[in-house]
Amino acid sequence: MANALPKGSIVAVVGSGAMGSGIAQVAAAAGYPVRLYDSRPEAVAKAIADIGKAYARLVEKDRMSSAEANLARERLHPASTLEELADAAIVVEAIVENLDVKRKLFADLEAIVGERCILATNTSSISITSIAAPLRRPERLVGMHFFNPVPLMALVEVISGLATSREVAEIVNATAQAWGKEPVHARSTPGFIVNRVARPYYAEALRLLLERAADPATLDAVMRDCGGFRMGPFELMDLIGHDVNFSVTQSVFNAYFGDPRFTPSVLQQELVNAGFLGRKSGRGFYRYGEDATRPEP
Ligand code: NAI
Repeated sequence: MANALPKGSIVAVVGSGAMGSGIAQVAAAAGYPVRLYDSRPEAVAKAIADIGKAYARLVEKDRMSSAEANLARERLHPASTLEELADAAIVVEAIVENLDVKRKLFADLEAIVGERCILATNTSSISITSIAAPLRRPERLVGMHFFNPVPLMALVEVISGLATSREVAEIVNATAQAWGKEPVHARSTPGFIVNRVARPYYAEALRLLLERAADPATLDAVMRDCGGFRMGPFELMDLIGHDVNFSVTQSVFNAYFGDPRFTPSVLQQELVNAGFLGRKSGRGFYRYGEDATRPEP
C-alpha cells in the first residue's frame, strides 16, 4: 500500500465554495499547507474567513487548542492565479458540476503543476474516466469525493476511472485517512455509491410533494423522526444546493441513457431557474436568515 502525502506537502484546492472551503479546513487542520483558488476572488476571501470562524468555534468547544487553530489558520494561503498552484503535491477540484468546465480546468492545470502532482476531483457524479480522458496523463486523475459538511462527515469516496493508477488511488486513500476521514474505494459508475443510492430518496420525496401528499416540513419530520435519517430529503437538498443536486440528477440520468428511474424533477428545475438554491441563496424549500419560515415552493 502506498503512503499518504507527507505532512507539509502543498494541497491546492480549486473552487472555494461550500465543499472547497470544507476540504481546505480539514487539510490545513491536519498539517498541510493549503492554497485556495477560485475564479471569484471574493469566494476565496470568504472561505478563509469562514474557516477561521470554524476553528474558533472548535477552540470554544475544546476540540482544538488555540495554538493548533493559529497554526492551521497560518497554513491557509489565497491564490489569485492557477500558476500559484505550480508546487502543489495534490490539487483537489471542487468547482461547478459540469464536465466541460472540469475538463478545461484540468487541462490548464496539467500545463502548470509538476509531473508527480495528483489531480483529484470532488465531483458528485461525473465519470472520472471522462474527466481524465483528454489529459496527457489520465492515470494521475482520481475522484476524492467528500460529503457536506466536510468537517463533520467522515466518509470520502475514492473513485478510480478506467485509467487511474492504483498507486494514485492508494495515496489519496491514505491521505484522506491522514486528514481524519474514512475513505472507501470504488470504481467510477454514475453517481458512485452514495449519490446513486440517494437518488430515489430525493426523487420519491419530490414526487410525494408534487402529488400534494404532505408539505416538506412534514415529510422531513417523518423521515427524520420515524425513518431514522439524520436529515429529511428537503432540508438535505437545501443543504446540498439545488443547482448541484439537479446537475447530479441530470448527470446520472444521462449516464444511464435516460433510465426513467433517474428522471430529474421539474420542481428542482424550477427552483434552479428561480435562483432558490437552498441555504446558500437564503431560500429553497425553506427560507434561511432573518425571516426564516417554512413555505412550500
Ligand atoms: P459551490 O457553488 O458552493 O462552489 C463552487 C465554487 O467554484 C464557486 O465559488 C465558484 O466561483 C467556483 N468556480 C466555478 N467554476 C470555476 C472555475 N472554472 N475555476 C475556479 N473556480 C470555479 O459548489 P459546491 O457545493 O462546493 O460543489 C462543488 C463541487 O463539489 C461540485 O462538483 C459538486 O458536485 C461537488 N459536491 C458537492 C456537494 C454538496 O453537498 N454541495 C457534496 C459533494 C460534492
